[in-house]
Amino acid sequence: MAKDFFAALTRNTISLAGTAMVVASATLIITLFVIQQIGFEGGAYLGLITFVALPMVLMMGLVLIPLGISRERKRLAAAAAEGEEVVARFPVLDLNTESTRKNVIMFLVFTTISIVILGSATYKGVHIMDSVEFCGTVCHTVMQPEYVAHQRSPHARVPCADCHIGPGADWFVKSKISGSWQLIAVSLDIYPKPIPTPIHNLRPARETCEQCHWPTNHVGDLLKVKTVYAEDEVNTAAQTAVLLRVGGLAGRENSGIHWHVNPDVQIRYRSDDARENIYDIELTAADGTVKTYLAGEVPEEAQEWRTMDCVDCHNRPSHQYKMPGEEVDLAMASGDIAKDLPFIKRESMRLLQVGYESHVQATEEIPAGLMAFYTAEYPELAASRADALSAAGNELVEIYTSNVFPAMKVDWGTYPNHIGHQETPGCFRCHDRKHKTEDGDRITRKCDTCHTLLADEEVDSEILEILNP
Ligand code: HEC
Ligand code: HEC
Ligand code: HEC
Ligand code: HEC
Ligand code: HEC
Repeated sequence: MAKDFFAALTRNTISLAGTAMVVASATLIITLFVIQQIGFEGGAYLGLITFVALPMVLMMGLVLIPLGISRERKRLAAAAAEGEEVVARFPVLDLNTESTRKNVIMFLVFTTISIVILGSATYKGVHIMDSVEFCGTVCHTVMQPEYVAHQRSPHARVPCADCHIGPGADWFVKSKISGSWQLIAVSLDIYPKPIPTPIHNLRPARETCEQCHWPTNHVGDLLKVKTVYAEDEVNTAAQTAVLLRVGGLAGRENSGIHWHVNPDVQIRYRSDDARENIYDIELTAADGTVKTYLAGEVPEEAQEWRTMDCVDCHNRPSHQYKMPGEEVDLAMASGDIAKDLPFIKRESMRLLQVGYESHVQATEEIPAGLMAFYTAEYPELAASRADALSAAGNELVEIYTSNVFPAMKVDWGTYPNHIGHQETPGCFRCHDRKHKTEDGDRITRKCDTCHTLLADEEVDSEILEILNP
């Protein structure tokens, strides 16, 4: 019986190929599974191969085997009907013959080597697919905005998969199912531009961000100082300094900005798809009391509740697109754009917001536009400061091509940042004094709850003399 079975499997090429596929993939699946069980993490794509790709090969093999057998049966039946003599096509292996013995040993050695090679190739493939370069550049145009922004962020060294997939196999499979669809969408060019935000099925922050940062880690107060240049001839510099009350928990129990992610507190809300208009907010405090803040009618499509986590404030930890003013101020403060060029802030702002059709066009027209302005208005300076002007032009190109991606319809401000309240509503989506409980309790909007404003666009302020002597 067993002999007949093996004969049927191997007597025709199709079944033989099927058997080979089953044996090879099964061996690999078992090996990879064992490797993962003994604690080798291997990154998210190892799961894809072990639990998605190899099983597909196995399935194909399993389909090929009966297909081959049934074709072989038909062939034999047809041959028999023709009156031909049906001979077994399978050779008899006599291991007493030395040459046969050698062949069998060779066969075994080759199979083992093939499995080792296949295994190492798979392992290598896993590493490549898990890398930032793979995620960010394989679908070059599509992921270019996210890739470039990621490379300029504090998380530049954190692989895409650490935030978008995280450890564990189940999210891995989930992400691969949507990933496969994305692959099809990209091939057929039917994906949305710009890629919509937020990502509704992003893995919960507890399992991604909190692998590296955690809510009970006391951050304390954070001082943020920045310089803003005016659009006048001398680019007057003013400074803003805020002391942000980030630290919750330690020291001051239940307070500060990170209080929202205190493990004892839960905040849920209902919002539109973009999470920009927030309707009902439900707060379950540490002592178990529940408060509901309402802000009028909740539209049909905003019925679902979302539990607040890191990403509701830090929605741009990695893909930080900045606004033109912020970028130019930073470049001027660091000296990449010389701040003694007359009207350089105003001209930079103008040139960055022209609306070019491509990076190529911006790369040509921004430096040319800058040069044209100075040649017309300050011809002497255009000659004497040619180096500074050309450096400024290059820096503006760099700023433009890092934040605006015409091919993906990503413009200034396409992706809002929820961390503050200056450029976009951010914190004020909830802290707006419109949300209130039945008793008329409102969510605070007192400036001092969140920060102490040490200086607000001040020129030569006293506090900044102390901070920046
Ligand atoms: C530090 C964590 C982190 C890393 C690393 C990271 N991302 Fe993201 N990514 C996010 C968050 C958070 C969002 C926004 C989610 C939201 O608002 O729902 C996001 C959004 C996106 C979006 C949707 C468009 C958008 O900007 O909102 C794409 C596409 C994307 N990421 C691709 C990538 C690629 C490609 C890489 C690697 C080059 C990467 N991400 C690395 C955290 C990360
Ligand atoms: C693999 C580890 C890792 C993961 C995952 C991770 N981070 Fe970070 N994060 C870091 C490191 C390292 C830094 C410090 C970078 C530096 O100081 O330049 C950092 C810095 C930060 C900062 C400070 C940024 C600044 O401007 O200085 C914030 C905010 C932050 N992370 C939020 C997040 C959020 C939100 C997530 C989840 C979406 C996340 N991180 C996921 C490692 C990680
Ligand atoms: C989804 C809604 C929501 C968002 C978004 C939100 N908050 Fe809150 N926040 C609340 C609620 C609800 C409370 C509790 C009511 C109150 O204290 O008035 C609160 C309270 C606070 C408190 C007081 C905590 C304490 O000491 O008791 C601070 C500080 C704060 N938020 C800062 C921020 C900052 C900064 C941002 C933006 C980066 C922000 N919040 C975004 C809902 C939100
Ligand atoms: C209510 C909004 C809010 C939530 C929710 C929130 N943060 Fe923050 N976090 C802030 C603000 C505001 C700052 C100050 C830095 C800034 O403005 O960029 C900050 C600062 C940080 C920093 C930087 C500390 C430093 O030294 O630079 C880290 C890291 C961080 N948060 C991680 C997290 C993580 C992880 C979570 C989720 C467990 C989280 N945050 C949830 C608002 C929030
Ligand atoms: C719910 C919390 C919250 C409240 C209330 C709040 N702010 Fe802020 N504010 C922030 C956060 C968070 C930042 C830092 C944003 C960042 O990291 O860039 C900020 C930054 C600022 C800045 C500096 C902005 C910049 O250019 O970088 C100014 C100015 C400011 N706030 C003014 C105010 C004033 C005035 C009020 C009172 C009407 C107020 N804020 C109320 C959270 C708040």
